[in-house]
Amino acid sequence: MLDFSDFDARGYRTVDVATGYGRWVGTYEETVEDAMDLALLDELTVPQWGGVRRAADLGCGTGRTAAWLRQQGVGAIDGVDLTPEMLEVARSKGRHDRLFEGDVRDTGLEAGAYDLVIASLIDEHLPELRPFYDEAWKLAAPGAACVVVAFHPHFIMTSGMPTHFTDEAGEHIAISTHVHLLSDHVTAGIGAGWRLAEMREGLIDERWLALKPKWEKYRNHPISAALVWRKDS
Ligand SMILES: C[S@@+](CC[C@H](N)C(=O)[O-])C[C@H]1O[C@@H](n2cnc3c(N)ncnc32)[C@H](O)[C@@H]1O
Repeated sequence: MLDFSDFDARGYRTVDVATGYGRWVGTYEETVEDAMDLALLDELTVPQWGGVRRAADLGCGTGRTAAWLRQQGVGAIDGVDLTPEMLEVARSKGRHDRLFEGDVRDTGLEAGAYDLVIASLIDEHLPELRPFYDEAWKLAAPGAACVVVAFHPHFIMTSGMPTHFTDEAGEHIAISTHVHLLSDHVTAGIGAGWRLAEMREGLIDERWLALKPKWEKYRNHPISAALVWRKDS
C-alpha cells in the first residue's frame, strides 16, 4: 500500500475527514472545480442516468453530485456522509430525498435497493478501497451501476498535493489523504464482484489551465478518473 507521506510536497498540517470537511464546508462548493468530477460524469456513455430510479450518493457532501444527478433526471437520491456540517448544507439545498450520517463502508441503507451507487471524490479519504466496493455491492440491485470518481493517483504523486482547504486565517490544511493506484480500484472492484463497464481519465486541459494558470507544468497530466462498474444480474 502506498503512503501519501512519501509524495507530500506541501507539508500541510493534516486533520481527519470530519474535522477537515467540518471546517471547509463554508467555502467547499466555491473551491471544488466541476472540471474535477462533473466534467468526467458528462463524458460517460453509461449508465443511462434518466433511467435510474433510486440512487445512493455515498460521501454526498453538500450535494454537488446529487444536483448533477437531478439534472440528468435521476429519480430518488439517498445521501450518506460522515461530516454533520456537510450534511446540514445538503439538507438546506434539498437535492436528496433522504440524508443519513454514516460511513460509506457501512451505510445502514437498504440492501439490494439501488440501481445506482455513486461516490465522487471520496476515494482518497479511504485507507482501503475494498470495504467501500463491498458495501456498494451490498446496496446494489441486480443490474445496478456503481460510478466512482477518483482523485487520480498520478496527480497526487506528481504534484505531492493532498486534498486540502484554506481556513479563515489563510492556513492551508490537508485532509487525511491516501494514494490508490488505478489497479487498486480494479482489484477491489472485481474482488467485490463488480464488472468494469467504462473508464475515463480527466486531464489538465485548457479548461483547467484557465482556472489555474500556474498548473501549466501539469498540462496533459491526469487529475481525476471515473470508473463505471456493473453488477451483472
Ligand atoms: C470532496 S467531498 C465530495 C462531496 C461530493 N461527493 C462532491 O462531489 O462534491 C468528500 C466527502 O466525503 C465524505 N467522506 C469521506 N470519507 C467518508 C466516509 N468514510 N464515509 C462517509 N463520508 C465520507 C466527507 O465528509 C466529504 O463530505
